[in-house]
Amino acid sequence: MGTDASTAPLRVERATLRDVAQISALNNLFAPDGLTLPRNESFVTAHIDDYRIIRAADGSVLGCVALDEYSPSLVELVSLAVLPKAQHRGLGKLLIDAVSTLAERRGYPELFAVSLADQLFLHMGFAQSGLEHYPEKIARYAKISRSELSLSRKFLFAKRFSVE
Ligand SMILES: CC(C)(COP(=O)(O)OP(=O)(O)OC[C@H]1O[C@@H](n2cnc3c(N)ncnc32)[C@H](O)[C@@H]1OP(=O)(O)O)[C@@H](O)C(=O)NCCC(=O)NCCS
Repeated sequence: MGTDASTAPLRVERATLRDVAQISALNNLFAPDGLTLPRNESFVTAHIDDYRIIRAADGSVLGCVALDEYSPSLVELVSLAVLPKAQHRGLGKLLIDAVSTLAERRGYPELFAVSLADQLFLHMGFAQSGLEHYPEKIARYAKISRSELSLSRKFLFAKRFSVE
């Protein structure tokens, strides 16, 4: 990954296939701690249109986020990750803002996220919610891991959009 974090223009953009390896590596940096779900390069490639990124001045990826659709009425904010050297500079907020706008533009009435970064999501207009409202998520967790299931009981945040 590139090194120039300090002079990067903070602009959220669409990810391209050239970014796949870096996105997967950045996402997976936080997977051992359970903060993100592991995503391999073929997954990222297949879902590249759902990823948004922020680049450093040298073009390398500093931060990423993605939408993960459950149904036409429900989508999850996933893969939110910022390189440690670029954290605390507002990139996380920009990424959440951009992917929220994308979800609204695509017509989803609701966006939810599972995260330990509670202050960040509350600050970004999400409200604390409960896993019991998301049977689709419970069904996926049943296939993944019990520890994530217990995490999402405590740290599930949702934002609703007004849909015409
Ligand atoms: C969460 C994350 C994306 C935030 O990125 P960032 O660029 O540092 O975010 P911003 O600079 O826009 O905002 C930072 C603020 O978010 C809040 N925040 C970040 N992580 C937090 C956490 N774990 N718990 C509570 N609040 C948190 C704090 O208020 C923080 O303010 P500070 O910089 O004054 O400490 C980044 O810390 C990260 O990649 N973490 C590991 C992966 C992860 O947890 N992803 C979320 C999965 S949905």
